[in-house]
Amino acid sequence: MTQVTIDSLKNYDGETVTLKGWLYNKRKGGKIKFVILRDGTGFVQVVISKSDVDEHSFQDVDQATQESAIEIMGVVRADKRAPGGYEITGTQFRLLSLAAEYPIQPKEHGTGFLMDHRHLWLRSKRQHAILRIRDSVIRAIRDFFYKEGFLLVDTPIFTPAACEGTTTLFPVEYFGETVYLTQSGHLYNEANAAAFGKVYCFGPTFRAEKSKTRRHLTEFWMVEPEWPFCDIDENMDVQETFVSFIVQTVLKECPEELERLERDTSLLEKIVPPFPRISYDKAIEILHNEGVDIEWGQDFGGDDETVLSAKFDKPILVHRYPFVRKAFYMKQAPQRPEVALCIDMLAPEGYGEIIGGGQREDDLGALRERIKAHNLPEESFKWYLDLRRYGTVPHGGFGLGVERTVAWICGLKHVRETIPFPRLIYRTYP
Ligand code: 4AD
Ligand code: MG
Repeated sequence: MTQVTIDSLKNYDGETVTLKGWLYNKRKGGKIKFVILRDGTGFVQVVISKSDVDEHSFQDVDQATQESAIEIMGVVRADKRAPGGYEITGTQFRLLSLAAEYPIQPKEHGTGFLMDHRHLWLRSKRQHAILRIRDSVIRAIRDFFYKEGFLLVDTPIFTPAACEGTTTLFPVEYFGETVYLTQSGHLYNEANAAAFGKVYCFGPTFRAEKSKTRRHLTEFWMVEPEWPFCDIDENMDVQETFVSFIVQTVLKECPEELERLERDTSLLEKIVPPFPRISYDKAIEILHNEGVDIEWGQDFGGDDETVLSAKFDKPILVHRYPFVRKAFYMKQAPQRPEVALCIDMLAPEGYGEIIGGGQREDDLGALRERIKAHNLPEESFKWYLDLRRYGTVPHGGFGLGVERTVAWICGLKHVRETIPFPRLIYRTYP
């Protein structure tokens, strides 16, 4: 008997197959029982009639509880009404291991309860859809950079100094010294870009974010490309082709998952270049017109980003923010010293920032001053300053947060469901 997985049923129409997995749900109807089997690749309904199976099978179905491990033999039948397009007419049912009473019932549960049971919550149809979309997003990211000739060069997790401000560092005791979990790989990316040209790093990053919002995790995944000889306009070109490619790939690969999440895909279909490019000045003007109380020079809060991004049906590229607000490594605009050559991409529908990036300060003297002005220890940045000593060139890059991107594509209210085991200010369990 061919043992198959649910995602391959289309190759076995009319054939008898064996499937192994877990009982997701069951319904009784006299001489017929309906079982939903899940095997990690998908969900399928199995119809078991008393007349088609042995007595043992029928008893096992009765006994099997939610999430019991089961084995099913049956005939694959195409059925347009069935989710996934197939159903199984069972010919044998075996209970492999009986599950104790399962805490997550097919009903509404509170978020706290579900988060405490995240290890089991992952088995639900909704989480299945979200995490498959996450997988598709990550593959699209890798494919894009491969296609565009970027080399994957990884950056360290233990770092001696801050990259994105000293207030969100996680210290780690390191053989009698203190080091920090990385907030971003990008400083090392700059060294890698001078060595290899177009590069990217992709890994977990950490921020001791004290804010309890729907956009902040303390551990999140960021992909960061960096390349030499690039200006701010070219940077924005890459950002918009990159994000469009991700969204269009998910639309192609995950139609069922998006449907399960009841995502309005017509909004995602619009995500093609070009994206509106809006200066910080212009963004302030828009906010004023919307009645937001904000002054030139202030950073945007989550609410401001929501107001801004809700005005457009594509992501927007907001560029040239006030210089004093920005990280030490950003390049000052040559003709307008009050702004930095930086860019944030804000996703539509109120999702807000998914990318931060820009051009880096490539002048040794200017960078040194910035390190001082930000009270950063020059000792830790000796290597970084070296990059300005040996063949410095204009260069830049950006970082895209995977979880915020997945939240937007899936249409979720909170980032907590976009990563298998979310780390939040008040949560490190399970
Ligand atoms: O804007 P950020 O801080 O930029 C950097 O770290 C740069 N060094 C990147 C670079 O130029 N290579 O962070 C980049 C992105 C944000 O736009 C957001 O999508 C995500 O990382 N991000 C978070 N996602 C979830 N939880 C958090 N606490 C996040 N902080 C940033
Ligand atoms: Mg940012």
